[in-house]
Amino acid sequence: MTLNQSARLSVAPMMDWTDRHCRYLHRLMSRRTLLYTEMVTSPALVRGGARHLLRFDRSEHPVALQLGGSDPAELAEAARMGADEGYDEINLNVGCPSDRVQSGTFGAVLMKTPGLVADCARAMAAAVEVPVTVKCRIGVDDQDPATVLPDFLSRMRDAGVRRIAIHARKAWLQGLSPKENRDIPPLDHDLVFRMKERFPDLHLSINGGIESLEQAKGFLDRGIDGVMIGRAAYHAPWDILGTADGEIWGEAPPFSDASQVVVAMLPHIEEHLASGGRLNAVTRHMMGLFAGRPGARAWRRLLSEEAHRDGAGTEVVERALDTVGARMAAE
Ligand SMILES: Cc1cc2nc3c(=O)[nH]c(=O)nc-3n(C[C@H](O)[C@H](O)[C@H](O)COP(=O)(O)O)c2cc1C
Repeated sequence: MTLNQSARLSVAPMMDWTDRHCRYLHRLMSRRTLLYTEMVTSPALVRGGARHLLRFDRSEHPVALQLGGSDPAELAEAARMGADEGYDEINLNVGCPSDRVQSGTFGAVLMKTPGLVADCARAMAAAVEVPVTVKCRIGVDDQDPATVLPDFLSRMRDAGVRRIAIHARKAWLQGLSPKENRDIPPLDHDLVFRMKERFPDLHLSINGGIESLEQAKGFLDRGIDGVMIGRAAYHAPWDILGTADGEIWGEAPPFSDASQVVVAMLPHIEEHLASGGRLNAVTRHMMGLFAGRPGARAWRRLLSEEAHRDGAGTEVVERALDTVGARMAAE
């Protein structure tokens, strides 16, 4: 299957959330969904020597590395490092509004300098064989999205970018926290559909506020190429990913319920513990597995009370799973 086909559904890059344990979990549930890393900055990789940030498990394919930065030569070098490490795609972050990131000229503020983003994308594409993609907003601050977004997309196309994920809201760079910037600026999904009509040769993924697989399918049916889901996939991973392979690609999903996913995670957890890691580094991404189902609360409570303790091992997860089983049986 091509990467573009996998990109019909993707899990968005999320700092502190889509780390390698989270991606391992997501990959168990869906063999096809394209997964993204957290953003890794090019200065950290190239100047900081933080190669360990690139670590991932081979089972995670197809997996894209998201980079943050604004220096073409440095981004090209970081892209090369990512491609050497085996990532299937290198993505440039033009959507993240945080202060820390703004100070280094990364993320959404780059919507104001599309020529520079094009230079970055060109330099990255020249450095690697794998696709270079972009994740952007529809605009920032007082920009008019209906004007700046098509200009941005055509510059990306001219720079050789063929796939773009669009978070369908502006970022307001002053006065809103990063979290508020994911909720307060209004969503404009229709604008993304208009862009698809205008740029039929680009693969466009729509992102922002998509809550269910049903809604994602509705968007695909309306003609968008891909749907990227962030928070809903993190908070209710089974609901989004558990049946995605069947619903989106017509293939048999790997598991028929979330309990099986927990059991399949145990070897990964054991390996992590054996290398000196802590249980909650993995289980924190598993909290939402039973979201909306009997036993969800007991599952979360047991994991949050016990998984951070010194020496906590897989028995905590097995006990939590037993509790879910008992609640389900009682329903
Ligand atoms: C905790 C968190 C961290 C995020 N980190 C990144 C990031 O590193 N790079 C990025 O492009 N977007 C980041 N985002 C934005 C998401 O990728 C996504 O665009 C946004 O959450 C909207 O999609 P959703 O409504 O489906 O969550 C982050 C979002 C969250 C909730």
